[in-house]
Amino acid sequence: MEGQERGAWGSNLGFVLAAMGSAIGLGNLWGFPYKMGANGGFPFLVIYLIMVIGCGVVVMGLEMAIGRNTRKSPILAMGQLGKKFKVIGLFGVLSAFVIMGFYSVLIGYSLRYLAGFGLEIFGGAGFAGMDGAAFFGAYTGNIGAVIGYTALAFVISGVIVAAGIQSGIERFNKIGIPSLFVILIVIIVYGLTLPGSKDGLTFMFSSQGMQILGVEFDFFNACRAAGGQMLFSLSLGMGALITYGSYLDDKANISKNAWVIPAADTAAAILAGMAIFPVVFAMGQSPAGGPGLLFITMHNTFFSMGGIGLGLGVIFYLLVIFAGVSSAISLMEVVASNFIDQRLAKGKPANRRQVVLGVSAAMFVLSLFVACDKLGGSVMTTGSAFVSRIGSLLDTFDFFASGIMMPLGAMLISLVVGWGKGIPWLKAEMEKNGNKFYCEKFFTIFTRYITPLLMLFVLISLALSYLGI
Ligand code: PHE
Repeated sequence: MEGQERGAWGSNLGFVLAAMGSAIGLGNLWGFPYKMGANGGFPFLVIYLIMVIGCGVVVMGLEMAIGRNTRKSPILAMGQLGKKFKVIGLFGVLSAFVIMGFYSVLIGYSLRYLAGFGLEIFGGAGFAGMDGAAFFGAYTGNIGAVIGYTALAFVISGVIVAAGIQSGIERFNKIGIPSLFVILIVIIVYGLTLPGSKDGLTFMFSSQGMQILGVEFDFFNACRAAGGQMLFSLSLGMGALITYGSYLDDKANISKNAWVIPAADTAAAILAGMAIFPVVFAMGQSPAGGPGLLFITMHNTFFSMGGIGLGLGVIFYLLVIFAGVSSAISLMEVVASNFIDQRLAKGKPANRRQVVLGVSAAMFVLSLFVACDKLGGSVMTTGSAFVSRIGSLLDTFDFFASGIMMPLGAMLISLVVGWGKGIPWLKAEMEKNGNKFYCEKFFTIFTRYITPLLMLFVLISLALSYLGI
């Protein structure tokens, strides 16, 4: 049976946890809290929430509906809605490739730091006695080590994806996502007992964050930061939710899931900031975003805490790895399911393990470029005016994915459903099996008008900001 070969979730809860796993990732940990601090604190949160509701919830609902309706991975799914829409799915598969090209390298970094803190606990020199910046520089410059840990990230993610939807992806997320929230809470509770920790909350939630960083509030900057962050953080516009939705039972209520998953992702983003910044401020470190925060700053923070810091270091990097791997497996599944479905469509048998091996190998080759770029230190960045303008090869990959393809994908998906297939088609899918279509009016108006316009706005402003215009 075709359905059997493709796989299916064991329950709606399993699906919801897997979708949360895809959404909650490095983007939540290093992107959201920092961007919130840098863009005015509370006003940023309000703009972000408007983006989540105005686009996130809507596109998530549409992607799940497309996936479940067609029971196909993105290219075939979009092709089934209309031949000319196939290219939207193709963009999604390409985005998954490009994102995994850098995401895997970052999971590799986290594995190295987990190993480092683990060794330190047992008296080893996990970081060769270096401070945060020195070690990070030495590690990222050591291409062999970076490639080794990136390969390990692929092995871990590949094994989970190869095990299948239910026994691999669903099982991992059922353990990973609750653990992730528990770790967040443990760090928050501990962090808030430290003197000076409240400054971390002030940085994130009030306008003082901008004073600390020496920046002024800029409404358009805040909007584009929130728009790009929202799409990346919710894994939208590139088919991850089409893919996960394609394994979803008809009994599941999609319009409800479309609220629950973004709510959990947003909660995780806020909790991440409440876990990270209080300890950073209590230990006198300065806030930043990106790799510098997750690796250099946190390394220094944990080391300045003494013995307990080593233990916290271990659980913190476990958190980063859970968050990262649960997202990486969704990136891999987008591509793997494409090849599995293409074979099944031709009536050929599909061996999931072989497909996953091939997909991992191809993604690994792409990640080698990022690994060898040393975060912008190689000729791949310095030799290209375009890449160095954006920052590094990693930033360039991110620019193509979250700056161009994801907003474009999200916009096109809402146009296809709103104007191509039409709202009655959406209603039929939402109401399958007697389900209630929550917020039907809202979905109707937003899918047709507001979401595409918001995405167009984000697309233009993101592209301009990346290019420094
Ligand atoms: N949502 C993930 C994060 O916040 C990244 C991601 C994007 C995962 C797209 C899958 C698809 O880190």
